[in-house]
Amino acid sequence: MSYKNWTIEKDEEDICWLHLDVENSSTNILRADVLNELSDILNDLAQSLPAGIIFVSDKSNGFIAGADINEFTVIKTVDEAREMLSRGHEIMNKIESLPCTTVAMIDGFCLGGGMELALACTYRVMCDNKSTRVGLPEIKLGIHPGYGGTLRSIQKAGPVAAMNAMLTGRMIQGRAAKGMGLVDDLVPKRQLKRAARYFVINRPQQRQLSLKDRIMNHRLVRPFIASQMRKTVAKKASKKHYPAPYKLIDLWQSHMDNPRRMLEKEIDSVASLVTHPTAENLVRVFFLQEKLKSQGNKKDFTPQHIHVIGGGVMGGDIAAWCALRGFSVTVQDQKPEALAGTMKRSMDMFKKKFKKDKRSIREAMDRLVPDTKGIGVLKADLIIEAIFEDKDVKQSLYKDIEPIMKDGAILATNTSSIPLEELATCLESPERLVGIHFFNPVALMPLVEIVRGENTSEETMKKSQAFGRQIDKLPLPVKSTPGFLVNRILMPYLLEAVEMVGEGIAPEMVDKAALKFGMPMGPIELADTVGLDVCKSVATILAGTESLKLPLKMKNMVDNGKLGKKTGEGFYKWVKGRPVKDKSASYGNLQELQDRMVFRFLNETTACKREKVVEGDDLIDAGIIFGTGFAPFRGGPLHYINSEGAAALNARLTQLKERYGDRFNADEAWAGL
Ligand code: NAI
Repeated sequence: MSYKNWTIEKDEEDICWLHLDVENSSTNILRADVLNELSDILNDLAQSLPAGIIFVSDKSNGFIAGADINEFTVIKTVDEAREMLSRGHEIMNKIESLPCTTVAMIDGFCLGGGMELALACTYRVMCDNKSTRVGLPEIKLGIHPGYGGTLRSIQKAGPVAAMNAMLTGRMIQGRAAKGMGLVDDLVPKRQLKRAARYFVINRPQQRQLSLKDRIMNHRLVRPFIASQMRKTVAKKASKKHYPAPYKLIDLWQSHMDNPRRMLEKEIDSVASLVTHPTAENLVRVFFLQEKLKSQGNKKDFTPQHIHVIGGGVMGGDIAAWCALRGFSVTVQDQKPEALAGTMKRSMDMFKKKFKKDKRSIREAMDRLVPDTKGIGVLKADLIIEAIFEDKDVKQSLYKDIEPIMKDGAILATNTSSIPLEELATCLESPERLVGIHFFNPVALMPLVEIVRGENTSEETMKKSQAFGRQIDKLPLPVKSTPGFLVNRILMPYLLEAVEMVGEGIAPEMVDKAALKFGMPMGPIELADTVGLDVCKSVATILAGTESLKLPLKMKNMVDNGKLGKKTGEGFYKWVKGRPVKDKSASYGNLQELQDRMVFRFLNETTACKREKVVEGDDLIDAGIIFGTGFAPFRGGPLHYINSEGAAALNARLTQLKERYGDRFNADEAWAGL
């Protein structure tokens, strides 16, 4: 019998090697047809039992990446979800109950449903290299493991380690996975097959949970541990917005004593989550991220050398990030002390990333070269300019460097506000100027806006977008209009927040209202973090309209040198890098505060849609989620407007206008929504 996705190979020791190579897919995923074929194969094998079965991937990029997320999007009812999950359970149970030994031979990523399949096997052997990781990342899609992985991971790794892995959804490297008990052996690639065969033939004793883990799993202890887990989760995600972690904790607390019941209840739990709007929206965010990734094709540009000019807050971190991602980089600044700061901060970034891997730290440092004379310009394929935000200063630099740039080299500016058309007037070849707008802090913010000026050539755009992917960022092509997409949308929201503080509302209440909506950080804390001087200058540039008048409160604070975190005081006092907040603040109607901020945000989004700052609604939502952190469980601002109903929201906008004035004037785009 031949299959589309699986190949069966029997060796001389009567071991059956089950090779997976999913048809028409670059990675192995557990699509319905893949599972159906597996079910048939297992039925056949149960009839004529081999000495053992070893699951192996024939794809070079990993073992199994997980379930097919596309299949989630067609599930509309709890019953449909139950049917799909029950099918998965049936197959995993079949693997687990086979009388012969089963082994998952893990080389490359083994995630989600793939990990659940591995957990259903008797043993797991894992390749000891950086690209091989295991994990149960379902929580990021608003669900939790649903093919028996909740029970089996806890049985193998104990409740604390397994729940932590499922609640965070993190990727786990070999040593940690072995230490936790998620895998049985970790071996170099060349010994992987031998190790898998060893487990089939010798059936070594399986690892038992420690006494501590067994106590933690005890029915009388679980409620206490579960309540600690809920408290930890609540610091990051509310139950209303993100139900999945809470359901996972409930499942473990209520049913761990009875494995069969736990498996049944796992199906119920995931079926209710899959159909919840949060999971639908998080799945949408997953696809939006894929869409951003597809904006750049890595093959379109492979710069051999990158030269960064400006070793300040942004330039220094951009240079370090590029070196971290493997590029040869020179970084230039007019002040040697700025370059000393860059090298120190780069070292900190590399240490954080590579931890104890001294060799990788040293190699990254070797790739990054301080360059006071700017010699790197001569050999760079890409020059990133991140000097002062001043048109004349930038143009004078361009005039100096353009004649000595390599043919075909790209000149990218990190400007946050100066139109590219204005900067390009001094250039002989304006088609090579593009904006590559990074966000602060560079290492943490996933988005880069790739700004197309009027003269920017297609070739320059294509290469810049490719570069975005080369450094593992999400590239968003945007039009060169003031504030581009992200700053333009953030600013009215932020200024409304400052306005409210000016009216006497406590900053704590304003931030609380935004957090309640699902923003990752309150706007006042954000303004303090970015720096009030930076906010003021961006707002001033955007202030072409009445709606963006700078609140007096902010102007006064900047005049008095209260710039936020960096000066130790802004709206908050900052101690050891944290804002000191008054927990007793309570004055103000939270819903009203929230509406004032959110409606300005939404209104500006619709204006960007009308002006086509970014092509297409999905890319606008994607840019805003990955650039501002806009409540991911709401699926993006335009999606939110659609799901709440544009007419109802527009009516509320009118009310706000009547109460607070013209800055709440509905953009004409609302009429078409
Ligand atoms: P910064 O003031 O921290 O750094 C600028 C650096 O450029 C200084 O070290 C300065 O000595 C150097 N410099 C100035 N003129 C130079 C020249 N002709 N040759 C060599 N070096 C020169 O400024 P920051 O914040 O890093 O901003 C840089 C650019 O990035 C600006 O265009 C800004 O609008 C943009 N940006 C800033 C963000 C932020 O959060 N700070 C976020 C995104 C973009």
